[in-house]
Amino acid sequence: MTVEDIPQVLEIEHQSFPTMWPPTAFKRELQQNRLANYIVLIEHNSAAAASTPEPEPQHHAANLSRLFGELRQILGPREEPPLPRIEDRPELIVGFIGVWMLPDEAHIVTVAIRDSYRRQGLGELLLIAAIDLAQAQRQPLLTLEVRVSNEAAVALYEKYGFERVGLRPRYYSDDHEDALVLTVNSVLTEEFSARFAELRSEHRRRWGDFDLTLP
Ligand SMILES: CC(C)(COP(=O)(O)OP(=O)(O)OC[C@H]1O[C@@H](n2cnc3c(N)ncnc32)[C@H](O)[C@@H]1OP(=O)(O)O)[C@@H](O)C(=O)NCCC(=O)NCCS
Repeated sequence: MTVEDIPQVLEIEHQSFPTMWPPTAFKRELQQNRLANYIVLIEHNSAAAASTPEPEPQHHAANLSRLFGELRQILGPREEPPLPRIEDRPELIVGFIGVWMLPDEAHIVTVAIRDSYRRQGLGELLLIAAIDLAQAQRQPLLTLEVRVSNEAAVALYEKYGFERVGLRPRYYSDDHEDALVLTVNSVLTEEFSARFAELRSEHRRRWGDFDLTLP
């Protein structure tokens, strides 16, 4: 994830966690949190890329409007420009995952898929990327919290060997729902790696190949 991805990531965060407030401070996470690793899934749209107009040359009117933009920034909060229509985006962010690499655990802090892209193996792909990251950093323990009612997410994690190890009562501040604590503590074992390799090939057979470039 880069700073340029943030508006689209916030769009997905908002549709995925509508009661969450405030939104995640992704800019601070990316620029100041050295433990944070954020991965985005991007769908490339070559038709939109081909029709994207060249940036306009700088001229007097553009300079004036920039000056007013800067003045507005000084005088009050800046409104974000609206995002282009989905079909006009050369790079559409379709999902993201965040993992904090703490000294004694890799903690999945968030994961979400754009709602019209769900049930196509993409959440699973992000989880595979997070496990790759934990293995690459020799971290045996992966942990996370999830709402007790979030059947889709719990099923995804349990598919990959996460186990229920605890309950945090009234964990979520908006509606006081409980959180399940899920962990897998065998990420570096041969047994886990063998099962992980099977799941990964099953995913590839079912959904095809993806270019997974890790940070
Ligand atoms: C949870 C979430 C990331 C799953 O992403 P997804 O791309 O739709 O999931 P996938 O297609 O990769 O599914 C992988 C596995 O997850 C489970 N799963 C996903 N959606 C499910 C659903 N609606 N019901 C039951 N199981 C589901 C299944 O085990 C599935 O494996 P299967 O296809 O072999 O049955 C997505 O539903 C989402 O963004 N939800 C809103 C945000 C959220 O709740 N994040 C989790 C916070 S802890």
